[in-house]
Amino acid sequence: MFSPATTKKAVAPNNLEAYWMPFTANREFKTNPRMLVSAKDMHYITDDGRRVLDGTAGLWCVNAGHTRPKIVEAVQHQIAELDYAPSFQMGHPKAFELAARLATIAPQGLNRVFFTNSGSESVDTALKIALAYHRVREEGQRFRLIGRERGYHGVGFGGISVGGIVSNRKMFGTLLTGTDHIRHTHDIARNAFSRGQPEHGEEFADDFERVLALHDPSTIAALIVEPVAGSAGVLLPPKGYLDKLKSLCDKNGILLIFDEVITGFGRLGAPFAADYFGITPDIMVTAKGITNGVIPMGAVFVKDAIYDAFMQGPKHQIELFHGYTYSGHPVACAAGLATLDVYQEEGLLSRGAELANYWADAIHGLKDCPHVIDTRAVGLIGAIELEPIPGEPTKRAFSAFLAAYEAGILIRTTGDTIALSPPLVISTSQIDELVDKLGIILRAGA
Ligand SMILES: Cc1ncc(COP(=O)(O)O)c(C=O)c1O
Repeated sequence: MFSPATTKKAVAPNNLEAYWMPFTANREFKTNPRMLVSAKDMHYITDDGRRVLDGTAGLWCVNAGHTRPKIVEAVQHQIAELDYAPSFQMGHPKAFELAARLATIAPQGLNRVFFTNSGSESVDTALKIALAYHRVREEGQRFRLIGRERGYHGVGFGGISVGGIVSNRKMFGTLLTGTDHIRHTHDIARNAFSRGQPEHGEEFADDFERVLALHDPSTIAALIVEPVAGSAGVLLPPKGYLDKLKSLCDKNGILLIFDEVITGFGRLGAPFAADYFGITPDIMVTAKGITNGVIPMGAVFVKDAIYDAFMQGPKHQIELFHGYTYSGHPVACAAGLATLDVYQEEGLLSRGAELANYWADAIHGLKDCPHVIDTRAVGLIGAIELEPIPGEPTKRAFSAFLAAYEAGILIRTTGDTIALSPPLVISTSQIDELVDKLGIILRAGA
């Protein structure tokens, strides 16, 4: 008979060995653990009782701030009432209610919502819908999926195949076939310290024409881009760039997918980046802020015409062979509905617009700190790019991250760029605190 006491080692308290941490320098962490034990509004509390100002909304997801009572209560209530309901051939009211509510805030025409459990699943879902859409319309020759260098689309095989971050791809074999990439838009030489969207680089969209010519446009199903590349260092689209991509897609019958996992739910000061830039994609990928990070969830928004293309054939037949055990999970839906209430009651989907100038001033105010080679800001996202230490890339930013944590602020680094994306409830004095403390760290030569 199985007996944990005899067949397993006793679990020592505070043993850090078993947990293989994601996207983490495990050995460094385990010699210098950084443990968060609770959170409230704009702050985390560490295991040694310190308050840490959250400059990153967790991982770009806690847009309304932490442990908001309305969301907590909704989750508690839902678990006690309906803990789980199958999502295949069955439904529960909150999944329909959430989809309908989401459609009301989505950009015009993106009225159909497919639920997933993460950004990565949302990306793979969007790519699969794009391929299947062409197939049901008898354009199955459109099998290619195009992404962009320095794009981050999660960690599924679809997402890393269209993604353009080398470290996320190089260990994992051949990836999906039939993918290609357009060039990235980062151009510090011409655009360093731009206020808002960079002036130079609309022509980077022409690189899509090169890919179209190389493969024949009629073989391409979709182009996926982040409207603002987040994880690769907060790269803003140059003026005119996204419009050009959109018109090339339209001209060639290619679906445009916006990955709004970071930019969705108010991050830029509008509900979605599509609203902010005035460009509606055919498919929009979301996650993170949809439940304020409380329960894992993602949603893929598609245009009516895409959904309608699948609604044919005998009515008893499944139209799309895709879905997850936890698609539209009742607890996630309850969290999502309460989150939307909080966003709407507090005007959080547009609050970033009110703070954007103050925020941009604060971020650009760090431009004269040592080793800073660029500062960028849009909505409530900011980036400070540092010159790498020769031969030791990422180390300078990582040192700043460690120092920041000691100083009571949570920042995030990607490569040698510091990325900031606080909860949308941040006050101006908290912006000052965040940026002042970071300035002290950078001036100390982190
Ligand atoms: C743009 C983008 N897409 C997809 C993802 C993947 O989301 P997840 O980590 O929930 O799978 C992320 C995560 O940061 C992201 O920023």
